[in-house]
Amino acid sequence: MNRLSLALAGAVFSLFAAQSMAGDAAAGKAVWEKVNCASCHGPDAKSPIDPVYPILAGQPADYLAHALTAYQRGATGAPASANVRKNAVMGAFATQLSRQDVDNVTAWLAAQPGPLKVAQ
Ligand code: HEC
Repeated sequence: MNRLSLALAGAVFSLFAAQSMAGDAAAGKAVWEKVNCASCHGPDAKSPIDPVYPILAGQPADYLAHALTAYQRGATGAPASANVRKNAVMGAFATQLSRQDVDNVTAWLAAQPGPLKVAQ
């Protein structure tokens, strides 16, 4: 019986933990528009103003969130590493985002149709 309660408590806890990490795509679209990410990446996140700028639409949310967090770290002056990206432009934009903004905007980006989407 005790084991069952523990297992149930664990399942409930992981459910809440998973929920708190998931982003809200509708709120993410609002972040995308407010910070004007589209001015470089394109309104649909796959038609950048310069072909060397990355296509974001359809990339996995966890990868995009990792990238944004890495730019935030890079902007604090941390030396470049696998978890730190030094980029003056994206550093300036990523630092305008809260942790929740990052989760939301990456949930929205991952849900957009794009050439990089992996078929599920
Ligand atoms: C002034 C132009 C500009 C704006 C505005 C801009 N970006 Fe970027 N973004 C870039 C460039 C250039 C890169 C590639 C930088 C590099 O080489 O690391 C990039 C890279 C990224 C990446 C990494 C993609 C990958 O495949 O690794 C993400 C995620 C991203 N941008 C999200 C955003 C979001 C979200 C916003 C709005 C908050 C935003 N960008 C606003 C120019 C911009």
